[in-house]
Parts: sequence; C-alpha cells; structure tokens
Amino acid sequence: MSAPSGFSINFSGQCIIVTGGNRGIGYAFTRALAASGANVAVIYRNHPTALKDVGEVSKEFPGVKIKAYQCDVSDTEVVTRVVNQINEDFAIPEKKTTPITGLIANAGVSVVKPALELTHEDFKKIYDVNVFGVFNIARAVAKLWQDNKTKGSIVINSSMSSQIINKAKDASPLTQVFYNSSKAAVSNLTKGLAAEWAKDGIRVNALSPGYVKTAQTAGMDKGMRDYQAGQLPLGRFAEPDEMTGQALLLLSDHASYMTGGEYFIDGGQLIY
Ligand SMILES: NC(=O)c1ccc[n+]([C@@H]2O[C@H](COP(=O)([O-])OP(=O)(O)OC[C@H]3O[C@@H](n4cnc5c(N)ncnc54)[C@H](OP(=O)(O)O)[C@@H]3O)[C@@H](O)[C@H]2O)c1
Repeated sequence: MSAPSGFSINFSGQCIIVTGGNRGIGYAFTRALAASGANVAVIYRNHPTALKDVGEVSKEFPGVKIKAYQCDVSDTEVVTRVVNQINEDFAIPEKKTTPITGLIANAGVSVVKPALELTHEDFKKIYDVNVFGVFNIARAVAKLWQDNKTKGSIVINSSMSSQIINKAKDASPLTQVFYNSSKAAVSNLTKGLAAEWAKDGIRVNALSPGYVKTAQTAGMDKGMRDYQAGQLPLGRFAEPDEMTGQALLLLSDHASYMTGGEYFIDGGQLIY
C-alpha cells in the first residue's frame, strides 16, 4: 500500500496571468503560483520597481518562467496585444494549444473621499480599472481559450466591500462609495461571465478579501486601521499570503465544479 501523498496543487507547464502581480496581494499570488510550478505573466501599470520586484521572484524560483508586462488593463487594444504577446512568449513548442490556463484579475484602485466631493474623473479612474479593466482582460483570455477550444479558470479579486460599507469608526463609514459599488459590480460581473462561458469550459469565480496589509491600506489612518482590526472576529488584518490558498484552489482542477461563486477571505467580518 502506498503512503498518502497529501493534497497538492501543481501548475507545472501552465502559464497563469496575474494583473497587478508586481505588488500587494498580486505579488503574493505571483510567488504562490511560482512556488506551485506555474509560469507567471505579471501585468503592472507603471510602478518604477515592478521589473526589479518581479525579477526577485524569478531569482527565488529559477525553475519557472516569470515575465512582467506593462499594460493598462483599462485599454482594450493594449490588453489584447499583451495577451497575444504572452501567448507567444510562453508557448511550449510540443504543445499545439495556448499555454495560458488561468488568470487572476487582481488589479484594482480606490479613491477615498466624501460623496459630495467625488467627480466623474474619480468614477472613471475606479470603474475603468475595477470593472472595465477586469472585463477587458477576462474577455481577451476567454477569447483565446474559445479560439483554441481549451478550458480555463478566471479568479477575479473583488472585495468584501461588494457586500458591506467599511467603517472608519462607530456608525461612520470609510467614504469610498465608488470603490464599494465597483466591487459590487465586479462580483455581479463574475456571475454573468461564469454563466455565459460555462458551456465553453471556462470557470469564473470571485475572491473577496477583507482587510489586507498592502499599500492600499497602509496609507490609511492608523487609528482607523486599529478600529477596523478590533471589529474583526480574528482581530487583525490579513497578510497578503493568506489570500493565496483560495485563489490557487479556484485556478486548479480541484475546483472543477466551482463557478460563479464569491469566496470571502475576511477574518470573519461578514459574520456580523
Ligand atoms: N488591500 C486590501 O485590504 C484589499 C481588500 C479587499 C480587496 N482588495 C483588492 O485586491 C486587489 C489588490 O489590492 P492591493 O491592496 O494589493 O493593491 P495595491 O498594493 O494598491 O496594488 C495595486 C496593483 O494594481 C495594479 N494596477 C492598478 N491600476 C492598474 C491598471 N490600470 N492596469 C494594470 N495594473 C494596474 C498596480 O500596478 P502598479 O504597481 O504598476 O501601479 C498594482 O500592481 C485590488 O483589486 C483591491 O481592490 C484589496
């Protein structure tokens, strides 16, 4: 009788795209995917240390290919061009089909301002990335899979803010109505795309983090962060690494019956 081999996820020979994979939660996705054998195509917008930071992951995991691409996810033409480039760059000669098997649409932005001060520019800044940008990259990858007649898995990084209004202190909201509503929109988009593409073998799910220690939260008032952490059943913000297990599971064949779902990794915030 052979010894149990445990539960494992292995993406060897597969290429997975991570938008915003150069820092924050996305960087944790990039590292976790590389550690699981995936070749990773990282999309970033314009961060000055992106190439160096992605290069560090290459050094840590020399057995896999990791490459960074500058690309604004809100620009449809650029997204299409970059996805086709990734398809070529990661091609495996003996494999006739696309090397891309998964996508984490993670890039997102926020503007914190009282509603009376928000502008149409703020709206476009947020929705162009958090909703249209997610749509753009998901569609480009799904088209490639449909053209190649291959299956694939998409994980959309939404937020627990799709369901709740975050608090800054008792009975006082964190003022970011465009951000919260964009996350509600992208969680619904997840279900719609899952419904349309299920027949093509394409699964689409949302991962919805609670408070995570990244640049997005580090810039906020410490008193507010302590208050938010104190409200959580688990009593603390998450480390970016704590988002990776669910994302990798959803990308893998272990999740072959999961589509159209939204999975909250929120330290228990939504219990109350
Ligand atoms: N942190 C949290 O507590 C939290 C909670 C719930 C949900 N989330 C969600 O999780 C995701 C990642 O958050 P984070 O905190 O890790 O963010 P972050 O540290 O602020 O990083 C944002 C990432 O998105 C990329 N990006 C932004 N606009 C882009 C564009 N137009 N095109 C391509 N890439 C773009 C950035 O690229 P550059 O580096 O080049 O600018 C960067 O890699 C977001 O969708 C966020 O809403 C975060």
